[in-house]
Amino acid sequence: MNRIITALDFANVAKAQDFVSKIDPSLTRLKVGSQLFTLGGPALIEELQKQGFDVFLDLKYHDIPNTVASALQAASALGVWMVTLHASGGPAMMKAARDAVNSYDRQAQTGGGTRIVAVTVLTSLDRAEMAAVGLDKEPSSQVEQLAQLAHAASMDGVVCSPHEVALIRGIGKNDFLIITPGIRPDKDGEVPVSQITSHGGAPDDQRRTLTPYDAIVGGSDYLVIGRPVTQASSPVEVLHALNAEIQIAASQISTNSPD
Ligand code: C5P
Repeated sequence: MNRIITALDFANVAKAQDFVSKIDPSLTRLKVGSQLFTLGGPALIEELQKQGFDVFLDLKYHDIPNTVASALQAASALGVWMVTLHASGGPAMMKAARDAVNSYDRQAQTGGGTRIVAVTVLTSLDRAEMAAVGLDKEPSSQVEQLAQLAHAASMDGVVCSPHEVALIRGIGKNDFLIITPGIRPDKDGEVPVSQITSHGGAPDDQRRTLTPYDAIVGGSDYLVIGRPVTQASSPVEVLHALNAEIQIAASQISTNSPD
């Protein structure tokens, strides 16, 4: 069970390819976001998949239902493991996305196709930013409402801050996946990652981070980790250490493992 999703946040395709050539699919899945997808397109996704990696295509779709359904059909045909959309696109948009993936799976007989996970409230939005766009409520209350909508629309899970996991865990139980960014290894944690990466546990621009251990014990299914891995001098060693820490955490909880 591979719970790490490494965020391929690189300024160009060559740098991403160079990083990927140093690692192994048994250590991590890969997240391709809008920057790298805009640079490398489907050809890059196919190349990563050919090398055996599961790809998390993080394009955060938000459009009219027909357009999002068409995008999901294309993502399914590309064979990506997981995609994101905005839950704030509404129930009809999410339902159209679900129907598109299910219908592709039936035709192509993939037997377990692309997972769809919903973004609730961007962690860059605070109460004032939300009020500015007409949402006069606490971000946590909006997160909860959108997670419930996503679950009702048969999304496979949500992306959220590790601090929102407790709020969401009760909604979908163990079959509702929770994917969390904002992860930083603890320099004094179970596995001394700081000794093998110059990056250590620096929070960078992340606020309110959690360690991999705490995120897994708290109920996250998958951890999106960027710079602590991508900027390490030996990404393989860091991934081994992170996986060891996650395994220790996972052995202490008795939830069903997602696949
Ligand atoms: O380098 P770092 O570990 O901070 O990278 C985290 C990744 O997760 C980045 O690709 C970032 O865009 C993404 N992300 C995030 N916070 C969110 C949603 C996504 O950091 N709330």
